[in-house]
Formats: sequence, structure tokens, C-alpha cells
Amino acid sequence: MSLSPARASVGNGGSPRLFPTPVIDRRHLPPLRRHLLAWFDRSHRPLPWRADRDPYRIWVSEVMLQQTTVAAVVPFFERFLAAFPTIHALAEADEQHVLRLWQGLGYYRRARHLHAAARKLVAEYGGTFPNDPAVWAELPGVGRYILGAVLSQAFDRRLPIVEANSLRVLSRWFGSRLDPREGEGKKWVWAAAETVLPRKRAGDFNQAVMELGALVCTPDRPKCDDCPVRNQCAARQLGLQAVIPPKAARKATVAVREVAVVLRDGNKLLLCRRPPDADRWANMWELPRDVVRDNETEPDAAVRIVAERLGLSVTAGVEAATVRHGVTRFDITVSAIEAEREPGRKVRLAYYTAWRWADRGSVGEYPMSTSMRKLFDELTKPGRQKRLF
Ligand code: ADE
Repeated sequence: MSLSPARASVGNGGSPRLFPTPVIDRRHLPPLRRHLLAWFDRSHRPLPWRADRDPYRIWVSEVMLQQTTVAAVVPFFERFLAAFPTIHALAEADEQHVLRLWQGLGYYRRARHLHAAARKLVAEYGGTFPNDPAVWAELPGVGRYILGAVLSQAFDRRLPIVEANSLRVLSRWFGSRLDPREGEGKKWVWAAAETVLPRKRAGDFNQAVMELGALVCTPDRPKCDDCPVRNQCAARQLGLQAVIPPKAARKATVAVREVAVVLRDGNKLLLCRRPPDADRWANMWELPRDVVRDNETEPDAAVRIVAERLGLSVTAGVEAATVRHGVTRFDITVSAIEAEREPGRKVRLAYYTAWRWADRGSVGEYPMSTSMRKLFDELTKPGRQKRLF
């Protein structure tokens, strides 16, 4: 392993340190590729998107896997493919149906982009999957990762990918002390991912790197004795597995207090659809909801939310239920507050783009965020004193 001159980088905790940018010694690559691919052939998990090279299945799986673990993705993948078995079925689907099947996976923008991209491929390419990076680069939601993942696995194109597992594996193999998530280290790790790719079986190799990271080269206590490339690994030779790569700085959790308003019409409840450009949960449904401001009580917030977003005057009543939900670094507490409408006013939509009176049988049909679903589950629990429906 040869090393280039020292460069400045920022390590864990933001303190500047001097670490060299590793240069990859190409003599290590042939045995590394051979051992890793042989291990992958023996040891890979039989995941549902690995059964064939159908670009559609690979694409859907990679979009789901971008922010989510394999174990969490599998049941969503099966359900999604049962509902939309082909790109044509997905393109023809209503976006609300797509969002409903994504419900619970989070990062819903992925689903909207996937749907829009399917429509574009059907409209412009007859629903085929062009083996052309320039076409993929123009699709909504397709960045360097998805482009490389799909084209390498579906067409064996020699395109690199880097995700959470592979950035750890690559940093360890070549003993890089740089932070592979940003700046110089990020550039280095993408270049390394490209350099290590074999000319053939690039897609299998990309998957093998991720698989090694998931099963053997784990963040803590990697199983080096079981590793097929232990003799090619710089971190192991140097005893640096525990400090490579540097741990990501933990982002502080932000507590958020929200109110969701329960408005009734007989045994129906008012549901509203969020706007298409909402920063999260776009085009999904909810009880009228917002963050409680610093100078507000929860009942104050309920009155304001309904006035601002629906043009209605209400009197706020009791808290019906409260749930907590963690999403990314936000610790959200949502309280459902009962409210009575003053008679005579009609809904005037601002912020929201649609509203419905929904009964018990139909609430499950509306795509909702996990926190809103949790709130509904709590409100409809058997044995509650005041049932929602
Ligand atoms: N993570 C992202 N893509 C993956 C894949 N194809 N196999 C395993 N883990 C992954």
C-alpha cells in the first residue's frame, strides 16, 4: 500500500487532523475481486430482487434500499411488486395508490420520483429501460447511486456505487482515515469504488461489497476471521478496524411538539391533503396538523391551524390522544385535540389542497405518515373511553 503526501482533513468531532489520501495499489485488486466474488456466490442472501436481472425490480429495490435496511424493505418490496408488477402498471397507477403502498417506509419523495420516472420512461421510451447513463441521469430521483446500482446490476455496466456499507468496506480495505461522507474523503471513496470494479460482473461486485458490509465488515466488531478478503485489507493489517471509517458525528435530536385537530361531522372526521410541494409528506393526508409555536398552548394551536388552513372558526376541547414518533433527527410528539366548529362557515382551503369527511371504513385508504397512522391507531384502540368513531 503506497501513500500520497499528507493532506488536511476533518476527522470525527470536527477537529482538523492530517491524514494521507491513500493510493490504491493495483496489485491487490485481482485477488480481492476473485475472493470477494467467490464469497458472494457462496454466501449472498437470496433477496427477492436478486432472482433475476429485471431492471424494473432492481430499480424499485434500490430506491427502497436507499434510506432503509434490507430487512425492512423486503415486505414492502413484495407488496409493491404484487400491486405494480411492471413499469406500465406503475406508470398507470394513481399517485395516491403508490403512496399508500409506500406508507411506513418513509422518505416519500422517493416514491413520487419513482412514479414520475416510470411515467417518463413509458412516455418517452415505450416502457423500456435504456442501457444509457445519460437517459437515467435525466430521470426524477436518479442520482449517481441509483444510476450506478441499476445499470451495473441490470446491464453489467462498469459503474460504481457508494452507500453506507460500501463506504465502510472501501475505507477499511485501503486504510483510508478520511471521512468518506464528505469533502476529500467522499471524492476518494467514489474513485476507489470505481477503481476496484472488475471489467465483468460489475453489478455482482457492487452488491458483494454491500453484502460484505452488511454481513461481515460490520460497523462494530467486524468478523475479520470470516472475511474472504482479510489478507487484502489494510485496516486489518494495521489493526485500525475500530477507527476506520471515523464515526459520523451524531446530530442532536430536535424535539417537536405538534397538534392535530379532530373535527367531526356525525361519525365522520375531517381529513386534509398536504400540498405537492410540502417539505415532507407531500400529497399525503392528515388531521389538520402543525407545529405548536413558542407562545401557544395546544388548544390555541388547534384554533389557529383550523383558521389558517381551512378558514373555519372552532372552539378547542380536550386532548384525545398523544403519540410520539422519531423520524430522522426529529422527536415528534403529536397531540390530537378535539374541536367544535362554529356553525355556518364553509371550508376555505389554504395550504391544504383537498379535504374529505372520512368514516371509519375509509381512513385506511388515505396515504398517511407513520406519525399520523400511529395517532389514528391510538385514537381507535378498542377500550378507549372516547372512541374516535
Ligand atoms: N443495499 C442497497 N442495495 C443493496 C443490494 N442490492 N443488496 C444488498 N444491500 C443493498
